[in-house]
Amino acid sequence: MGYSSRLALALLRLPTVPSSDSQLVAKLKRANPSLLRSWAKRQAKSVAARGGYLVTKMDDEARRYARVSHNDEVPLPPGAAETLRTDNPKLVELQAAYDSLDVAATAHTQWRQSFLKRNLSLAWFRGDNAYVWQFRQLRNAAEARMYLTLLDVESRDRLGLLKRLEEDGKFGAWTFTYGNRPPVSRDLLDSVNEISYLDAQMGLSSIDSLKILDIGAGYGRMAHRVSAALPNLEAYDCIDGVATSTFLCDYYLKYRQVPDSVRVVPLPEYETLADDYDIAVNIHSFSECSMEAIGWWLDRIAERNIDWLLIVPNTPHQLLSTELDGSMKDFAPLVRAAGYVQVDERPVFENDELRALIDLHDTFHLFRRSSAK
Ligand SMILES: C[S@@+](CC[C@H](N)C(=O)[O-])C[C@H]1O[C@@H](n2cnc3c(N)ncnc32)[C@H](O)[C@@H]1O
Repeated sequence: MGYSSRLALALLRLPTVPSSDSQLVAKLKRANPSLLRSWAKRQAKSVAARGGYLVTKMDDEARRYARVSHNDEVPLPPGAAETLRTDNPKLVELQAAYDSLDVAATAHTQWRQSFLKRNLSLAWFRGDNAYVWQFRQLRNAAEARMYLTLLDVESRDRLGLLKRLEEDGKFGAWTFTYGNRPPVSRDLLDSVNEISYLDAQMGLSSIDSLKILDIGAGYGRMAHRVSAALPNLEAYDCIDGVATSTFLCDYYLKYRQVPDSVRVVPLPEYETLADDYDIAVNIHSFSECSMEAIGWWLDRIAERNIDWLLIVPNTPHQLLSTELDGSMKDFAPLVRAAGYVQVDERPVFENDELRALIDLHDTFHLFRRSSAK
């Protein structure tokens, strides 16, 4: 049983208020509700302490590690707050189109409206939220651990991307600055790391007329970075099973003025995807989908001519789905059935010493089509 469940149980064991206390409660309630709240807090703390738990109020810094947060030091660009609203007619229309689709990609188990409400502040979509965890995964000492991440990523930055790609902290991204270096973020470091990995494994930067399909593309993090990094890019198609993600991706990539090679394909138009791509990428997305949805996407991949497939799951050594009842199922057999064999598996932070301190164990899983020449 996890810590939070054990704590919840300890709190649930709060004794029913004894009659002498219930008179006290009634008096407090009448006299002063805030006295009642303090009394209830003291009771909860003392029950938790008897169960071996210390309940204490988090300060602002600690709260960042536990909840959705964003950095508002960089203001939103003009018009963003007015556009990035859940009642924007464009988003409402897109949502209706996704809702009326009869495809398994919309059989959501995690990315439901309630999840989005809890995990996303729309206008600050690059904050620490459902798309890219920044503080929550790093927990305490985020600043030091981000520095170690930077050292690890920098050691494999064969294309010199950290010198070329910039982080401006727009739309709520948390940024970290070390000495005279330009600021970095989780968005920047993850993207540089992913590009370097694919370059080392399959020569991403030297493929003529490179074509990439990004399934579960989020707000367009990778599309933005790849299009800025690789002049050999001919096509980067972003697609997603969630209307809000497509809406944000479209907005963000326009904001970044990405080249025409980048396209945001709304799910209802999935049949307009190309027949050929060099690689399909799925970064922290299948892990948040049902087997049914994953199977549907793998069918779309299998019916196309795509030699490479990169999956970054949320669990290091297994490819696990998220089912409606909370269970997780192994979807590796579906990947094999789509015609792919695994050719590499390695931690995203390769340096063993740094990884132990970063304490993040995400893993690259790279597949090649068995019929690839
Ligand atoms: C953690 S975010 C990762 C986003 C992006 N790949 C990145 O790394 O920045 C998970 C993504 O999976 C998408 N997603 C969730 N359910 C999906 C489904 N059934 N089909 C396709 N994408 C889905 C979400 O909309 C979101 O964009």
